[in-house]
Amino acid sequence: MDARPNSPEARDIRYHMHAYTNARKHQETGPLVIEKGDGVYVEDIAGNRYIEAMAGLWSVAVGFSEKRLVEAATRQMSKLPFYHDFGSKAHSPLIDLAEKLVQMAPVPMSKAYFTNSGSEANDTAIKMIWYRSNALGQPARKKIISRKRGYHGVTIASASLTGLPNNHLSFDLPIANILHTSTPHHWRDAEPGESEEQFSSRLAYDIEKLILAEGPETIAAFIGEPIMGAGGVIVPPAGYWQKIQAVLSKYDILLVADEVICGFGRTGEMFGSQTFGIRPDIMVLSKQISSSYLPISALIINDKVFEPIADESNRIGTFGHGFTGGGHPVAAAVALENIKLIEERDLVGNARKVGAHLQARLRKLASHPLVGEVRGVGLIAAVELVADKASKAPWGKPAALGALVNGFLQQNGVISRNMGDAIAFCPPLIITETQIDTLVGAFERSLDAALPQVRAQANA
Ligand SMILES: Cc1ncc(COP(=O)(O)O)c(C=O)c1O
Repeated sequence: MDARPNSPEARDIRYHMHAYTNARKHQETGPLVIEKGDGVYVEDIAGNRYIEAMAGLWSVAVGFSEKRLVEAATRQMSKLPFYHDFGSKAHSPLIDLAEKLVQMAPVPMSKAYFTNSGSEANDTAIKMIWYRSNALGQPARKKIISRKRGYHGVTIASASLTGLPNNHLSFDLPIANILHTSTPHHWRDAEPGESEEQFSSRLAYDIEKLILAEGPETIAAFIGEPIMGAGGVIVPPAGYWQKIQAVLSKYDILLVADEVICGFGRTGEMFGSQTFGIRPDIMVLSKQISSSYLPISALIINDKVFEPIADESNRIGTFGHGFTGGGHPVAAAVALENIKLIEERDLVGNARKVGAHLQARLRKLASHPLVGEVRGVGLIAAVELVADKASKAPWGKPAALGALVNGFLQQNGVISRNMGDAIAFCPPLIITETQIDTLVGAFERSLDAALPQVRAQANA
């Protein structure tokens, strides 16, 4: 770190409080200041180049230097830099994007509603669901089932859906009416000898028991990511979504697919719902919708959701919800151009093809002494590290080994993220097989660099 008092690092420490950061430790370590982007690479202010193996925050599909998105933003900024959709107003980028999203959806959908972030979109989903229950004359139907280790954002209601301790501790969360069911992680949580199908049946049975215990008339919806992202890239076991959906249909419970990470090609299909045969009533979209060049998110809802809401808004006089920046014209224009690029360049096909290469390369590391599990689909993967393969025990405190290897990875020119002891890979969808080889090579060197320390401590 540059120690000069007026260096960007020193000014960052002085003036900037960071998201998702140990604020006290940051005063000692300082920031990594990223200055520019080029394809799958970013460069810091010291001129070091990294493969951005997380696509920023699971989001930059088209890479970090796409001129067509810059031009789309510039065009729209010159023509109409701001407008909104309150009180029946509209503008062309938003109408075009709404039409595009409803037509792209893998199940029959009716309307698109626009927000600015994944968290806002999930908060909006909850409000729509509650409003709908009241519209249907079912005011008791307000509970929402989410999952431990699910990630749905950080606003008060979305953070409550999120099933991770760091999003609840000292925030006085979760709020009422949010229930958390089991994580579908076969490797970690299955009983000895339990097959994936058997494990899925057990989890579906757990959900049914929860519904019956709470009273089916009180359960409004179930929310889940097709693949859990921030909870550690948990790929659902065989039969999971089919069995869960059978239970939800039995009790007429809405299904919300949080496609914020999986949407727009990540899993090798346009949506994660296609990869896993999910038939949602609400789809929540963000991140890769605009490659995060500008903030925008959307909910796609079917008529089962829209029609009662329309009736209720007619009774009250309005649907009293909306954000000033929701459906911003410049963000909408960028999202449209970004989706066009994903289609034109067949980035979904690339995620399938290069993703298969990533998955195969990572699985070759399964015999490494520090690797517990390799998991993933398409261009999203995680490698869970352990100190002891048989017992799956961590190295000292949970997350210590993940942080150690992630540190080596950064020194080796790859930006990744450790979620506990799981190292995640979620690169831009434009990545090539050669770049994957560089990335996995750097990861292998990082594992080897960590091994002596792990062994030394185990022997101490
Ligand atoms: C699946 C999922 N849902 C919601 C969110 C929240 O999105 P945002 O950070 O834009 O509020 C995220 C963010 O990582 C996410 O991964």
